[in-house]
Amino acid sequence: NRVVLAYSGGLDTSVILKWLQQTYQCEVVTFTADLGQGEELEPARRKAEMAGVKPEHIFIDDLREEFVGDFVYPMMRANALYEGLYLLGTSIARPLIAKRQIEIARQVNADAVSHGATGKGNDQVRFELGYYALAPDIKVIAPWREWDLTSRTRLIEFAEAHQIPVSKDKRGEAPFSTDANLLHTSSEGKVLEDPWEEVPDYVFSRTVNPEDAPDTPEIITIDFERGDAVAINGEGLSPASLLTKLNELGRVHGIGRLDLVENRFVGMKSRGMYETPGGTILHLAHRGIEQVTLDRGAAHLKDELMPRYAELIYNGFWFSPEREMLQAAIDHSQEKVTGTVRLKLYKGAAHIIGRKSPYSLYSEKVVTFEDDQGAYDQRDAEGFIKLNALRLRLLGRRDR
Ligand code: ARG
Ligand code: SIN
Repeated sequence: NRVVLAYSGGLDTSVILKWLQQTYQCEVVTFTADLGQGEELEPARRKAEMAGVKPEHIFIDDLREEFVGDFVYPMMRANALYEGLYLLGTSIARPLIAKRQIEIARQVNADAVSHGATGKGNDQVRFELGYYALAPDIKVIAPWREWDLTSRTRLIEFAEAHQIPVSKDKRGEAPFSTDANLLHTSSEGKVLEDPWEEVPDYVFSRTVNPEDAPDTPEIITIDFERGDAVAINGEGLSPASLLTKLNELGRVHGIGRLDLVENRFVGMKSRGMYETPGGTILHLAHRGIEQVTLDRGAAHLKDELMPRYAELIYNGFWFSPEREMLQAAIDHSQEKVTGTVRLKLYKGAAHIIGRKSPYSLYSEKVVTFEDDQGAYDQRDAEGFIKLNALRLRLLGRRDR
Protein backbone atom coordinates (compact mmCIF):
# COMPACT_ATOMS: atom_id res chain seq x y z
CA ASN A 1 0.00 0.00 0.00
CA ARG A 2 2.48 2.54 -1.25
CA VAL A 3 2.10 5.25 -3.87
CA VAL A 4 4.74 7.17 -5.82
CA LEU A 5 3.67 10.79 -6.36
CA ALA A 6 5.11 13.10 -9.01
CA TYR A 7 5.82 15.91 -6.58
CA SER A 8 6.88 19.45 -7.49
CA GLY A 9 6.79 20.80 -3.96
CA GLY A 10 4.24 23.41 -5.01
CA LEU A 11 0.92 24.02 -3.33
CA ASP A 12 -1.15 21.64 -5.45
CA THR A 13 1.05 18.58 -5.14
CA SER A 14 1.62 19.32 -1.44
CA VAL A 15 -2.14 19.16 -0.93
CA ILE A 16 -2.23 15.98 -2.99
CA LEU A 17 0.47 14.43 -0.81
CA LYS A 18 -1.55 15.06 2.35
CA TRP A 19 -4.79 14.05 0.67
CA LEU A 20 -3.31 10.71 -0.44
CA GLN A 21 -2.04 9.93 3.05
CA GLN A 22 -5.50 10.68 4.45
CA THR A 23 -7.78 9.25 1.83
CA TYR A 24 -5.87 6.08 1.05
CA GLN A 25 -4.13 5.61 4.41
CA CYS A 26 -1.07 4.87 2.34
CA GLU A 27 2.61 5.54 2.50
CA VAL A 28 3.52 8.25 -0.02
CA VAL A 29 6.84 8.21 -1.84
CA THR A 30 7.69 11.52 -3.52
CA PHE A 31 9.54 11.93 -6.77
CA THR A 32 10.79 15.34 -7.86
CA ALA A 33 12.55 15.66 -11.20
CA ASP A 34 15.02 18.33 -12.19
CA LEU A 35 14.19 18.89 -15.84
CA GLY A 36 15.82 22.29 -15.86
CA GLN A 37 12.73 24.14 -14.65
CA GLY A 38 15.08 26.52 -12.86
CA GLU A 39 13.67 26.00 -9.38
CA GLU A 40 15.37 24.99 -6.17
CA LEU A 41 14.52 21.38 -5.41
CA GLU A 42 15.70 21.19 -1.82
CA PRO A 43 12.53 22.93 -0.55
CA ALA A 44 10.59 20.01 -2.01
CA ARG A 45 12.63 17.65 0.17
CA ARG A 46 11.94 19.70 3.29
CA LYS A 47 8.24 19.91 2.54
CA ALA A 48 8.02 16.18 1.94
CA GLU A 49 9.84 15.52 5.23
CA MET A 50 7.48 17.88 7.01
CA ALA A 51 4.56 15.92 5.61
CA GLY A 52 6.00 12.77 7.17
CA VAL A 53 7.60 11.16 4.12
CA LYS A 54 10.53 8.96 5.16
CA PRO A 55 13.90 10.29 3.98
CA GLU A 56 14.52 7.11 1.96
CA HIS A 57 11.20 7.69 0.25
CA ILE A 58 12.09 11.12 -1.06
CA PHE A 59 13.52 10.92 -4.58
CA ILE A 60 15.02 14.00 -6.20
CA ASP A 61 16.68 13.26 -9.54
CA ASP A 62 18.55 15.41 -11.98
CA LEU A 63 17.16 14.18 -15.30
CA ARG A 64 18.34 17.06 -17.47
CA GLU A 65 20.79 15.12 -19.64
CA GLU A 66 18.40 12.24 -20.12
CA PHE A 67 15.57 14.66 -20.90
CA VAL A 68 17.46 16.48 -23.64
CA GLY A 69 19.55 13.56 -24.93
CA ASP A 70 16.89 10.84 -25.04
CA PHE A 71 13.67 12.81 -25.53
CA VAL A 72 14.23 16.33 -26.89
CA TYR A 73 16.97 15.36 -29.38
CA PRO A 74 15.10 12.43 -30.97
CA MET A 75 12.09 14.74 -31.32
CA MET A 76 14.23 17.49 -32.88
CA ARG A 77 15.48 15.00 -35.50
CA ALA A 78 11.87 14.84 -36.67
CA ASN A 79 11.44 18.66 -36.77
CA ALA A 80 8.31 17.96 -34.74
CA LEU A 81 5.69 20.69 -34.47
CA TYR A 82 2.13 20.15 -33.26
CA GLU A 83 -0.43 22.00 -35.36
CA GLY A 84 2.34 23.69 -37.28
CA LEU A 85 3.74 25.73 -34.41
CA TYR A 86 4.03 24.09 -30.98
CA LEU A 87 7.46 22.63 -30.16
CA LEU A 88 5.92 20.18 -27.64
CA GLY A 89 7.93 21.29 -24.61
CA THR A 90 5.49 19.93 -22.03
CA SER A 91 4.40 16.91 -24.04
CA ILE A 92 7.92 15.50 -24.40
CA ALA A 93 8.71 15.74 -20.67
CA ARG A 94 5.79 13.64 -19.47
CA PRO A 95 6.94 10.22 -20.70
CA LEU A 96 10.29 10.67 -18.93
CA ILE A 97 8.60 11.56 -15.65
CA ALA A 98 6.27 8.57 -16.04
CA LYS A 99 9.20 6.25 -16.79
CA ARG A 100 11.19 7.33 -13.76
CA GLN A 101 8.10 7.14 -11.54
CA ILE A 102 7.54 3.53 -12.56
CA GLU A 103 11.22 2.69 -11.92
CA ILE A 104 10.89 4.13 -8.42
CA ALA A 105 7.61 2.27 -7.86
CA ARG A 106 9.43 -1.00 -8.65
CA GLN A 107 12.34 -0.07 -6.41
CA VAL A 108 10.22 0.72 -3.35
CA ASN A 109 7.58 -1.92 -4.04
CA ALA A 110 4.75 0.53 -4.59
CA ASP A 111 1.55 -0.64 -6.23
CA ALA A 112 0.27 2.81 -7.24
CA VAL A 113 1.39 6.09 -8.81
CA SER A 114 -0.18 9.54 -8.68
CA HIS A 115 0.14 12.90 -10.45
CA GLY A 116 -1.24 16.43 -10.14
CA ALA A 117 -2.63 16.94 -13.64
CA THR A 118 -6.27 17.96 -13.95
CA GLY A 119 -9.05 15.96 -15.58
CA LYS A 120 -9.40 18.55 -18.34
CA GLY A 121 -5.96 18.38 -19.84
CA ASN A 122 -3.48 16.46 -21.93
CA ASP A 123 -1.00 15.81 -19.16
CA GLN A 124 -3.16 13.25 -17.32
CA VAL A 125 -3.31 11.27 -20.58
CA ARG A 126 0.43 11.47 -21.17
CA PHE A 127 1.35 10.43 -17.63
CA GLU A 128 -1.09 7.57 -17.52
CA LEU A 129 -0.42 6.17 -21.00
CA GLY A 130 3.23 6.11 -19.93
CA TYR A 131 2.44 4.33 -16.66
CA TYR A 132 0.25 1.70 -18.28
CA ALA A 133 2.69 1.05 -21.13
CA LEU A 134 5.54 0.43 -18.70
CA ALA A 135 3.58 -1.23 -15.86
CA PRO A 136 0.31 -2.66 -17.20
CA ASP A 137 -1.09 -3.51 -13.75
CA ILE A 138 -0.18 -0.32 -11.90
CA LYS A 139 -2.91 1.49 -9.99
CA VAL A 140 -3.26 5.15 -10.94
CA ILE A 141 -4.58 7.81 -8.59
CA ALA A 142 -5.52 11.15 -10.16
CA PRO A 143 -6.72 13.31 -7.24
CA TRP A 144 -8.03 16.11 -9.44
CA ARG A 145 -10.56 13.68 -10.93
CA GLU A 146 -11.59 12.32 -7.54
CA TRP A 147 -11.58 14.85 -4.79
CA ASP A 148 -14.01 17.61 -3.88
CA LEU A 149 -11.37 20.34 -3.59
CA THR A 150 -12.71 21.77 -6.79
CA SER A 151 -12.13 25.44 -6.07
CA ARG A 152 -9.00 27.37 -5.17
CA THR A 153 -10.64 28.44 -1.90
CA ARG A 154 -11.30 24.88 -0.79
CA LEU A 155 -7.80 23.81 -1.77
CA ILE A 156 -6.33 26.60 0.37
CA GLU A 157 -8.66 25.78 3.27
CA PHE A 158 -7.46 22.18 3.12
CA ALA A 159 -3.83 23.32 3.01
CA GLU A 160 -4.28 25.59 6.02
CA ALA A 161 -6.09 22.92 7.99
CA HIS A 162 -3.10 20.63 7.43
CA GLN A 163 -0.21 23.04 8.09
CA ILE A 164 0.78 23.17 4.43
CA PRO A 165 2.51 26.50 3.83
CA VAL A 166 0.59 28.71 1.40
CA SER A 167 2.62 31.56 -0.06
CA LYS A 168 0.98 34.98 -0.24
CA ASP A 169 0.65 35.04 -4.01
CA LYS A 170 -1.16 31.68 -3.94
CA ARG A 171 -3.78 32.97 -1.54
CA GLY A 172 -5.45 35.03 -4.22
CA GLU A 173 -6.29 33.41 -7.50
CA ALA A 174 -3.06 32.37 -9.20
CA PRO A 175 -3.02 34.51 -12.36
CA PHE A 176 -2.23 31.54 -14.65
CA SER A 177 -0.83 28.00 -14.61
CA THR A 178 2.71 27.24 -15.78
CA ASP A 179 4.86 24.28 -16.66
CA ALA A 180 8.61 24.68 -17.18
CA ASN A 181 11.62 22.62 -18.17
CA LEU A 182 14.84 23.06 -20.17
CA LEU A 183 12.92 23.14 -23.43
CA HIS A 184 10.13 25.57 -22.64
CA THR A 185 7.84 27.38 -20.26
CA SER A 186 4.12 27.18 -20.95
CA SER A 187 1.41 29.30 -19.43
CA GLU A 188 -2.31 28.65 -19.62
CA GLY A 189 -5.56 29.60 -17.94
CA LYS A 190 -6.97 32.58 -16.07
CA VAL A 191 -5.68 35.83 -17.62
CA LEU A 192 -4.90 33.91 -20.82
CA GLU A 193 -8.33 32.40 -21.31
CA ASP A 194 -9.70 35.08 -23.65
CA PRO A 195 -7.90 34.38 -26.94
CA TRP A 196 -8.60 37.91 -28.18
CA GLU A 197 -6.77 39.56 -25.27
CA GLU A 198 -3.05 40.06 -25.73
CA VAL A 199 -0.83 38.17 -23.28
CA PRO A 200 0.28 40.57 -20.52
CA ASP A 201 4.02 41.25 -20.20
CA TYR A 202 4.35 39.66 -16.76
CA VAL A 203 3.54 36.22 -18.19
CA PHE A 204 6.91 36.03 -19.93
CA SER A 205 9.68 34.65 -17.77
CA ARG A 206 12.55 33.55 -20.00
CA THR A 207 12.79 35.86 -23.00
CA VAL A 208 13.20 39.60 -23.24
CA ASN A 209 10.61 41.45 -25.23
CA PRO A 210 11.87 41.38 -28.85
CA GLU A 211 11.21 45.11 -28.98
CA ASP A 212 13.81 45.57 -26.22
CA ALA A 213 16.32 43.09 -27.66
CA PRO A 214 19.78 44.33 -28.73
CA ASP A 215 19.97 46.39 -31.92
CA THR A 216 23.05 44.49 -33.04
CA PRO A 217 22.55 40.98 -34.37
CA GLU A 218 24.55 38.06 -33.00
CA ILE A 219 26.03 35.43 -35.30
CA ILE A 220 26.47 31.87 -34.02
CA THR A 221 27.30 28.47 -35.48
CA ILE A 222 25.82 25.12 -34.48
CA ASP A 223 27.57 21.86 -35.42
CA PHE A 224 25.46 18.77 -36.02
CA GLU A 225 26.44 15.11 -36.02
CA ARG A 226 23.93 12.59 -37.33
CA GLY A 227 21.08 14.99 -36.74
CA ASP A 228 22.06 16.03 -33.22
CA ALA A 229 23.52 19.38 -32.21
CA VAL A 230 26.94 18.83 -30.65
CA ALA A 231 28.66 22.23 -30.52
CA ILE A 232 28.00 25.97 -30.42
CA ASN A 233 30.63 28.29 -31.93
CA GLY A 234 32.92 25.28 -32.17
CA GLU A 235 32.65 24.41 -28.48
CA GLY A 236 31.50 20.83 -27.91
CA LEU A 237 28.64 20.58 -25.41
CA SER A 238 26.48 17.83 -23.93
CA PRO A 239 22.80 17.94 -24.94
CA ALA A 240 21.63 19.65 -21.72
CA SER A 241 24.46 22.19 -21.65
CA LEU A 242 23.97 22.93 -25.34
CA LEU A 243 20.27 23.62 -24.86
CA THR A 244 21.03 25.70 -21.76
CA LYS A 245 23.43 27.82 -23.80
CA LEU A 246 20.94 28.24 -26.65
CA ASN A 247 18.29 29.24 -24.10
CA GLU A 248 20.55 32.03 -22.90
CA LEU A 249 21.15 33.24 -26.48
CA GLY A 250 17.43 33.01 -27.20
CA ARG A 251 16.54 34.86 -24.01
CA VAL A 252 18.73 37.83 -24.83
CA HIS A 253 17.37 38.16 -28.37
CA GLY A 254 13.73 37.54 -27.43
CA ILE A 255 13.44 34.39 -29.53
CA GLY A 256 10.76 31.68 -29.26
CA ARG A 257 7.60 33.33 -28.00
CA LEU A 258 4.40 31.73 -29.22
CA ASP A 259 0.79 32.63 -28.54
CA LEU A 260 -1.29 29.64 -29.64
CA VAL A 261 -4.82 28.28 -29.61
CA GLU A 262 -4.44 24.51 -29.85
CA ASN A 263 -6.65 21.42 -29.87
CA ARG A 264 -6.24 19.35 -26.72
CA PHE A 265 -6.48 15.55 -27.06
CA VAL A 266 -9.49 15.52 -24.74
CA GLY A 267 -11.43 17.65 -27.21
CA MET A 268 -11.47 21.31 -26.24
CA LYS A 269 -9.43 24.18 -27.61
CA SER A 270 -7.11 25.97 -25.24
CA ARG A 271 -5.05 29.12 -25.49
CA GLY A 272 -1.47 29.00 -24.30
CA MET A 273 1.62 31.13 -24.26
CA TYR A 274 4.92 29.37 -24.88
CA GLU A 275 8.52 30.44 -24.57
CA THR A 276 10.94 28.05 -26.25
CA PRO A 277 14.09 30.13 -26.77
CA GLY A 278 16.77 27.49 -27.39
CA GLY A 279 14.37 24.99 -28.96
CA THR A 280 13.25 27.52 -31.56
CA ILE A 281 16.85 28.15 -32.63
CA LEU A 282 17.64 24.41 -32.63
CA HIS A 283 14.58 23.55 -34.69
CA LEU A 284 15.50 26.07 -37.38
CA ALA A 285 19.18 25.10 -37.36
CA HIS A 286 18.29 21.42 -37.79
CA ARG A 287 16.21 22.32 -40.83
CA GLY A 288 19.22 24.25 -42.11
CA ILE A 289 21.57 21.27 -41.97
CA GLU A 290 18.95 18.97 -43.48
CA GLN A 291 18.58 21.39 -46.40
CA VAL A 292 22.01 20.44 -47.71
CA THR A 293 22.35 16.86 -46.45
CA LEU A 294 18.97 15.22 -47.03
CA ASP A 295 17.83 13.96 -50.39
CA ARG A 296 14.52 15.41 -51.58
CA GLY A 297 12.66 12.10 -51.36
CA ALA A 298 13.82 11.47 -47.81
CA ALA A 299 13.18 15.07 -46.78
CA HIS A 300 9.66 15.16 -48.16
CA LEU A 301 8.74 11.81 -46.66
CA LYS A 302 10.00 13.09 -43.30
CA ASP A 303 7.79 16.13 -43.69
CA GLU A 304 4.78 13.91 -44.37
CA LEU A 305 5.48 11.75 -41.32
CA MET A 306 6.21 14.70 -39.05
CA PRO A 307 2.62 15.72 -38.20
CA ARG A 308 1.78 12.11 -37.31
CA TYR A 309 4.86 11.87 -35.14
CA ALA A 310 4.12 15.21 -33.44
CA GLU A 311 0.55 14.19 -32.76
CA LEU A 312 1.69 10.94 -31.16
CA ILE A 313 3.90 12.89 -28.78
CA TYR A 314 1.20 15.46 -28.08
CA ASN A 315 -1.36 12.74 -27.37
CA GLY A 316 0.95 10.84 -25.04
CA PHE A 317 1.91 7.87 -27.19
CA TRP A 318 5.69 8.11 -26.77
CA PHE A 319 5.82 4.48 -25.59
CA SER A 320 3.94 3.05 -28.56
CA PRO A 321 5.02 0.82 -31.44
CA GLU A 322 3.94 3.41 -33.99
CA ARG A 323 6.08 6.15 -32.42
CA GLU A 324 9.03 3.75 -32.33
CA MET A 325 8.52 2.79 -35.99
CA LEU A 326 8.49 6.43 -37.04
CA GLN A 327 11.51 7.13 -34.84
CA ALA A 328 13.46 4.34 -36.52
CA ALA A 329 12.74 5.81 -39.94
CA ILE A 330 13.61 9.33 -38.79
CA ASP A 331 16.83 8.22 -37.09
CA HIS A 332 17.85 6.29 -40.20
CA SER A 333 17.43 9.45 -42.29
CA GLN A 334 19.89 11.32 -40.06
CA GLU A 335 22.98 9.24 -40.88
CA LYS A 336 24.58 12.00 -42.97
CA VAL A 337 22.94 14.99 -41.27
CA THR A 338 26.32 16.29 -40.17
CA GLY A 339 27.81 19.73 -40.64
CA THR A 340 27.55 23.33 -39.53
CA VAL A 341 24.79 25.93 -39.65
CA ARG A 342 25.43 29.63 -39.23
CA LEU A 343 22.62 31.72 -37.77
CA LYS A 344 21.85 35.32 -37.10
CA LEU A 345 19.89 36.11 -33.94
CA TYR A 346 18.13 39.43 -34.06
CA LYS A 347 15.10 41.02 -32.40
CA GLY A 348 12.90 38.02 -31.76
CA ALA A 349 14.00 35.79 -34.61
CA ALA A 350 16.71 33.39 -35.69
CA HIS A 351 17.72 33.35 -39.36
CA ILE A 352 19.83 30.80 -41.19
CA ILE A 353 22.62 32.63 -43.01
CA GLY A 354 24.88 29.71 -43.95
CA ARG A 355 25.21 25.91 -43.97
CA LYS A 356 27.98 23.48 -44.92
CA SER A 357 28.58 19.77 -44.65
CA PRO A 358 31.12 17.17 -45.68
CA TYR A 359 28.09 15.22 -46.96
CA SER A 360 26.46 18.11 -48.77
CA LEU A 361 24.33 17.21 -51.80
CA TYR A 362 24.38 20.81 -52.90
CA SER A 363 26.30 21.17 -56.13
CA GLU A 364 27.19 24.66 -57.21
CA LYS A 365 28.43 23.18 -60.46
CA VAL A 366 25.00 21.73 -61.26
CA VAL A 367 22.88 24.63 -60.06
CA THR A 368 24.86 27.58 -61.40
CA PHE A 369 23.33 29.89 -63.99
CA GLU A 370 26.83 30.46 -65.31
CA ASP A 371 28.65 28.00 -67.58
CA ASP A 372 28.36 24.58 -65.92
CA GLN A 373 30.72 22.83 -68.34
CA GLY A 374 28.27 20.10 -69.21
CA ALA A 375 27.20 19.20 -65.63
CA TYR A 376 23.56 19.55 -66.67
CA ASP A 377 22.14 19.41 -70.16
CA GLN A 378 19.30 21.89 -70.44
CA ARG A 379 17.92 20.02 -73.45
CA ASP A 380 17.00 17.11 -71.08
CA ALA A 381 14.44 19.39 -69.47
CA GLU A 382 12.33 19.51 -72.63
CA GLY A 383 11.44 15.79 -72.59
CA PHE A 384 11.05 15.88 -68.82
CA ILE A 385 8.47 18.62 -69.09
CA LYS A 386 6.73 17.07 -72.11
CA LEU A 387 6.13 13.73 -70.37
CA ASN A 388 4.98 15.44 -67.22
CA ALA A 389 2.64 17.59 -69.31
CA LEU A 390 1.16 14.63 -71.19
CA ARG A 391 -1.78 14.01 -68.86
CA LEU A 392 -2.44 17.72 -68.43
CA ARG A 393 -2.65 18.10 -72.21
CA LEU A 394 -4.99 15.09 -72.56
CA LEU A 395 -7.21 16.57 -69.84
CA GLY A 396 -7.01 20.00 -71.39
CA ARG A 397 -8.09 18.67 -74.79
CA ARG A 398 -11.00 16.74 -73.32
CA ASP A 399 -12.34 19.51 -71.05
CA ARG A 400 -11.68 22.63 -73.09
N1 ARG B 1 -0.86 22.78 -23.66
C1 ARG B 1 0.48 22.31 -23.45
C2 ARG B 1 0.53 20.83 -23.75
O1 ARG B 1 -0.48 20.19 -23.73
C3 ARG B 1 0.98 22.61 -22.05
C4 ARG B 1 0.23 21.96 -20.91
C5 ARG B 1 0.79 22.19 -19.52
N2 ARG B 1 0.94 23.58 -19.25
C6 ARG B 1 0.44 24.23 -18.18
N3 ARG B 1 0.58 25.52 -18.16
N4 ARG B 1 -0.20 23.63 -17.21
O2 ARG B 1 1.57 20.27 -24.02
C1 SIN C 1 -3.23 20.23 -16.49
O1 SIN C 1 -4.31 19.69 -16.70
O2 SIN C 1 -2.63 20.04 -15.43
C2 SIN C 1 -2.58 21.18 -17.50
C3 SIN C 1 -3.19 21.26 -18.86
C4 SIN C 1 -2.98 20.06 -19.74
O3 SIN C 1 -2.64 18.99 -19.24
O4 SIN C 1 -3.22 20.14 -20.97
